Amino acid sequence: MLVGFRELLEERRARGAAAGAFTCYTLTTAVGVLRAAESESAPVLLLVSEASYTAPEGRLLLAALRAVAERASAPACVQLDHVADLATIARALADGVDAVMADGSRQPYEANAALVRAACELAREGAGVEAELGHIEGGEDVAAATAAGALTDPAEAARCVEETGADCIAVSIGNVHGHYAAPPALDWARLERIRELVDVPLSLHGASGLPDDDLRRAVAAGICKVNVNTELRARLFAELERRVPETAPGLRLLELESALADAVAEVAAEKLRLLAG
Ligand code: 13P
Repeated sequence: MLVGFRELLEERRARGAAAGAFTCYTLTTAVGVLRAAESESAPVLLLVSEASYTAPEGRLLLAALRAVAERASAPACVQLDHVADLATIARALADGVDAVMADGSRQPYEANAALVRAACELAREGAGVEAELGHIEGGEDVAAATAAGALTDPAEAARCVEETGADCIAVSIGNVHGHYAAPPALDWARLERIRELVDVPLSLHGASGLPDDDLRRAVAAGICKVNVNTELRARLFAELERRVPETAPGLRLLELESALADAVAEVAAEKLRLLAG
């Protein structure tokens, strides 16, 4: 069932748990996430990357993901992830997305805050808005070995919420998108300080490659939303390699698609269990 971004995250916060947010490039991926959400009775966010939304069929993908979220027996919503362009945010809101991540984190604070404020004004009381303070390095759609970027300044994160009305803050505490160039070493003291100063839900991006204990500890430290992409893609590619030779004779596409959705569901369900609090 469709649930608003704020409501979904606040419910997780009240339970001391986190929602899994999974990047969906295809309907098959979304079906896998849906299967995991239903088997774990856990809320999920279906994430659309900027590149897939702005691709020619991006609006169709968004509509498909919203249909999946609507029909899910678990609470679900759809979020446009990491967008720095206000026109794209406006278009996605008009297309009915439930939340956007207004990401001006490559810019100085003032420009980042101005983008987030403008997104909040467009979203009004309807859709949710997530901001990123500090900068989480690494590509969204192409995985590469990546070192941590600028870490979140706790006071600046609090100031951003106050000045913009953001509903959620993505923290940079040593986490990266894609593959970790060195074993991850999250800055737990920084997360604690951010938690003390910021009164909206916090999100942790770059969950792929983080040890299970780090994910559990992050949730215990107040993270309410955890973003996963690379591990889903890695598992999809591994499953394709394994299943294509089996299913190509007879062109058994239905069987292949269902196996791919199951593979995604397995990874997503593992993460959801770690986030259950
Ligand atoms: P990973 O690709 O490292 O899992 O990060 C996903 C993410 O944070 C999407 O916003």
